[in-house]
Amino acid sequence: MDRRIGIIGTGSMGSMLIRSFIRGGAAVPRQISAANRTPEARIAIAAETGIQEAANNRALAANADIIILCVRQPDVVPVMQEITEQLTSNKLLISVASDVPVSELEAHTPARVVRVIPSVTSEQLKGVSLIVFSEDTAPADREKVLSLFGAIGTPVVITESEMEAYTTLTSCAPAFFAAMVREFAAAATRMTGIPSNEAEHLARETFIGTGALLEVPHTSSADLISRVATPGGITEVGVHVISRDFPAVCDELFTATARKHASFRNGPSEE
Ligand SMILES: NC(=O)c1ccc[n+]([C@@H]2O[C@H](COP(=O)([O-])OP(=O)(O)OC[C@H]3O[C@@H](n4cnc5c(N)ncnc54)[C@H](OP(=O)(O)O)[C@@H]3O)[C@@H](O)[C@H]2O)c1
Repeated sequence: MDRRIGIIGTGSMGSMLIRSFIRGGAAVPRQISAANRTPEARIAIAAETGIQEAANNRALAANADIIILCVRQPDVVPVMQEITEQLTSNKLLISVASDVPVSELEAHTPARVVRVIPSVTSEQLKGVSLIVFSEDTAPADREKVLSLFGAIGTPVVITESEMEAYTTLTSCAPAFFAAMVREFAAAATRMTGIPSNEAEHLARETFIGTGALLEVPHTSSADLISRVATPGGITEVGVHVISRDFPAVCDELFTATARKHASFRNGPSEE
């Protein structure tokens, strides 16, 4: 029998996963149930997708085989404590919260635990989900988690110590890429006078087209650069500017995000 999936927290991530699991064929609506602190978001996603609604977290956890915690970091342990009686060793708990390591999840439950950091790109069944398995997850658990997240993108199994840097590279990156498109378009407006709406539209369309080109198997970013930037041409001058000045921006980005992770790990005094 297909395992029953319970989602706690129907905010941005929880709702995205519900839609994507259904769209990607990982689960059918009747297999999925959801609970949320305030009922409105739960009612809305149930009406949209046809999933089951659970009256509260305990009822949800009692009736699910796989419980996916989609609450923010400070809410993870309180929710685990709330469902402690239902979170028995035969359950599989998946947490998507940033900065809550597997060891902390394990400390609060006998259930087998898995940490997953998905990406909003899974809404389009693309992108990467980062996965850290606890040592006591069975092969069947691992297979199930890989198949769930394989249906909505590319699952990549990593270690806990790799998680922070990999999160910056994948889960945070859609915001970085969107910010780059915004700045690129804004520069076009500042420097050339192209109206901002038009600049944003043209940059966006080109970014989407570039993504599609990069999807062609065996196409690396270096391949694409050499295809567009003919030696001695205009594009090559622009690529040179990026190669000269952009590494420092990216280095600073990784430094800043690592510092923020450390502040979550060690408390606000580290910031
Ligand atoms: N956004 C991303 O791209 C992304 C990617 C990977 C991982 N994450 C991580 O995923 C986690 C969730 O992020 P999010 O963007 O989905 O946050 P969010 O939109 O704020 O959603 C959190 C949800 O949890 C619900 N909730 C809070 N306490 C609860 C409780 N005691 N019982 C039941 N439901 C409860 C909230 O209910 P209310 O409706 O009452 O507020 C809300 O719907 C965060 O740790 C985030 O870092 C996010």
